Amino acid sequence: MKSSISFNGKEALWFLKEKGSLPREEKALQAMEALESGRGKGSDFLGWLHLPSEISSTVIDNIKDVVEDWKKDIDIVVVIGIGGSYLGARAVIEALSHSFAALLPSEGPRVVFAGQNIGEDYLAELEDLMKTASIACVVISKSGTTTEPAIAFRLVKQHIESTYGKEEAKRRIVAITDSSRGALRNMVSREGYRSFIIPDDVGGRFSVFTPVGLLPVALAGIDIETLMDGARDMEKITAQKSTDNPAVQYASFRNALYENGKKIELLVNYHPKLHFVTEWWKQLFGESEGKEHLGIFPAGVDFTTDLHSMGQYIQDGERHLFETVISIASPNRSLTIPEDADNADGMNYLAGKHINECNKMAELGTRLAHVDGGVPNLHIEIPLLNAYYLGALLYFFEKACGISGYLLGVNPFDQEGVEAYKKNMFALLNKPGFEAQGDILRKRL
Ligand code: PA5
Repeated sequence: MKSSISFNGKEALWFLKEKGSLPREEKALQAMEALESGRGKGSDFLGWLHLPSEISSTVIDNIKDVVEDWKKDIDIVVVIGIGGSYLGARAVIEALSHSFAALLPSEGPRVVFAGQNIGEDYLAELEDLMKTASIACVVISKSGTTTEPAIAFRLVKQHIESTYGKEEAKRRIVAITDSSRGALRNMVSREGYRSFIIPDDVGGRFSVFTPVGLLPVALAGIDIETLMDGARDMEKITAQKSTDNPAVQYASFRNALYENGKKIELLVNYHPKLHFVTEWWKQLFGESEGKEHLGIFPAGVDFTTDLHSMGQYIQDGERHLFETVISIASPNRSLTIPEDADNADGMNYLAGKHINECNKMAELGTRLAHVDGGVPNLHIEIPLLNAYYLGALLYFFEKACGISGYLLGVNPFDQEGVEAYKKNMFALLNKPGFEAQGDILRKRL
C-alpha cells in the first residue's frame, strides 16, 4: 500500500553526516516490532495500536445516534475535558472546520470547549453563552476525577438541570469515561446519562480514535468514518517491517538529531487550521518522552505568522533545535491575487498567482534559510487537509511516538509526572486526605 504521508529527512542528513552519525533505522525497526508484538515497556497500554481497524460498528452507530438526536434542537454542545480528553477532538475540529465557522450560519450544533482551564472569567462567560441557546454537554474524563473538567461540569450540569429539568438532562448530557471506576462513572449510574467507554488500555493522549475524539468530531459535522479510513490505512502502512515505513524513518531521524544535541523539536505548519494539531502533538510527544530527565522538548510554530515573532531566534539563536515541517501539497480552495490598476503597494508582480504559491515559496525560502542557519529540517507531506489524510497523519504521529519512546529507552505510555502538580493543588485547596501536605507546602510560600 502506498503511503499517503511522505517523509523526507534529506535536509537533516548533512548535519548528521557532519557529526558522524546517521539515523538508526534498524534500531527503529526493532522498536517498531517490539511495539507491534507487545514486547516493549508499557505494553498494557497498547489498545490504541489497532483502534482504527478494530473499532466496533456499535460504537460508531451509538455516536451517530447522539448526533441525530441533538441535531433536532441543540444549538451548542459544550465539550468538557482536558489534556488527552480534549486536544484530539479540538485538533480535528479546528483542522477540518471553516475558519470562520463561529460567525457563519450552521446546520448542526456548534461545539465549544470547557474544562481545559480553570479560568473564572472563561467559565462565567460560558454561563453567559449558555443562557442564549439550547445546550447539551459531552463530559470526558478517563479517571473521572480531574479537577478542571469536574468544575466545568458542575456548572454546566446545574445550568442544564435548572433550565430543562432533571429528566431532560439525561438526554442532554453524555459522559465518556472509564467502564467502571471514578466519580464520573458513578454519576452516570446514579443520574442515568448516556455514556461511552474509554478502554482501559488506551491512554488519554492516544484516545483520539475512541469516542473521546470521535463523538465531539461527529457533533461538529465531520465525517468520522473517513477519518478512521485514513487512520486504518496508516495503521497498515506503519506496521510494515521496512525502512520505507514513514513512522520508522521519522522516529529514527528525530532520535539521531537528539543524540547530536538537538534537544528541541519545532513542529512547523503553514496552515492556520493546524494550530491545534500541533497542540495535540506536543502533548503526545511531551508526555510520552519527557521522562528520566530525557526527551526532546516538543514546541510548535505557525508559519508564516510566527516567522514575524520567532523567526529571528530560529534563524540565529542557540543551535539546539530542529524543525519538522508539516506540508500540505494542495489547498482545498482556489483563490488568486487580484490585479490593481494603481499598483500603489507595488504588488502587481504577484497578480494572478494563487495565494498557495506565495505560501509555498515562503515555505521553501524558510526551509533553505533555516538549513543555512544550522537548523536541520524534517519534512512530512500530506496531499490535502481533509478527514482521510488527517486521520492518517494523527495515527502516523502516534505510531512514530511509540517507536521514538522505545528508541529513547523510556516507557512512552505512562505519565507519572503529571501527578505532581495535581497533588500540590489538592493540598493547597484542602482536599480531604491532603491536609498534611497542604501544611508543608504553605510553609514554603
Ligand atoms: O494524558 C494524560 O493522562 C492527561 O493529559 C489526561 O489526559 C488529562 O489529565 C485528563 O485526564 P482525565 O481524562 O482522567 O480527566
